[in-house]
Amino acid sequence: MGQTATIPVLSSEEALARLKAAVHPKAQTYYAMYSSILGGIVTDPALMVLPMDDHMVHRGHAVFDTAAVVNGMVYQLDQHLDRFIRSAEMAKIPLPFSREQMREIILETIAASKQRKASVRYWLSAGPGGFGLSSSECVGSSFYVMIFAGLQYPDSYYTEGLRVITSTVPIKPPFFARVKSTNYLPNVLVVLEAKEKGVDSGIFIDERGMVGEGPNMNVAFVTKDQVLRHPKFDRILSGITAQRMLVLARRLVEQGLLKDVVVDDISVEEGKAAAEMLFFGSSIKVAPIVEWDGQPIGNGKPGPVAKALYELWLEDQQKGEGQLIPVPYRD
Ligand SMILES: Cc1ncc(COP(=O)(O)O)c(C=O)c1O
Repeated sequence: MGQTATIPVLSSEEALARLKAAVHPKAQTYYAMYSSILGGIVTDPALMVLPMDDHMVHRGHAVFDTAAVVNGMVYQLDQHLDRFIRSAEMAKIPLPFSREQMREIILETIAASKQRKASVRYWLSAGPGGFGLSSSECVGSSFYVMIFAGLQYPDSYYTEGLRVITSTVPIKPPFFARVKSTNYLPNVLVVLEAKEKGVDSGIFIDERGMVGEGPNMNVAFVTKDQVLRHPKFDRILSGITAQRMLVLARRLVEQGLLKDVVVDDISVEEGKAAAEMLFFGSSIKVAPIVEWDGQPIGNGKPGPVAKALYELWLEDQQKGEGQLIPVPYRD
């Protein structure tokens, strides 16, 4: 006689009950999800699930993007959507809907969440259809939208600044760094390595010894002669925040706080000799970095350009022309 089976084979009803029971407390901040598989929006976190045969799950054949909802408006939605579509093209994932339809689905999902401050992340996947590599077996691309409370970084990041290390994790080759795909293993490892070493984050350096980017943010510098310098975007993700900050920083040139804004290669030595070092990103916003590999950057304190750029970013999120898309809430 064989051993008695201890793992139950569940009916659909039992499985659904278990999915509901498995919802953990953190899921309270998952407000709504659209799934093209369902053709609708769910607000019960138990139902925010994906088919196992979706190529996003088992092959990482998917792209994504994230934008912020602030005061009931989506900040820079169109810029994020443009990058999303560029990523989809690079990853050879056909769009299941037009850009306009995806934009509407995103806005409708935010409206269904009733949240006026949140993050909206959306994914385009090669879709379900089997467990092979080629998406030719897929029944069609899938589109998912998730509304959740955004990443919360400690206040000290802004008041005291971050400490970073040069990551030992290899940077993605340029093509893969420019596609915002779901293959974030290197990015995850940068964060884990930084935490293991007792600092806040890590910096990818390319094989030429030039500064790349952070795990989910871009990095910029202010030189001792007041030039804001950002690495070229040909080997890193083209950050929507960084692109905007490079435009807004022109105002600081007019005000005399900066002499110029330059996009060019930046060596590690040059970066370490800077007066200020900054992170830019949709989740971190604008944050000063005060220490790199145990050495202070500038005087080791958050600098005036980081503060001025953070204020410009705050103002832009409230009233940036062409940057704010209203959500069609129903109440
Ligand atoms: C690798 C990487 N670089 C840079 C950024 C910053 O981009 P954004 O300003 O569009 O959030 C992100 C975040 O999306 C990222 O994942």
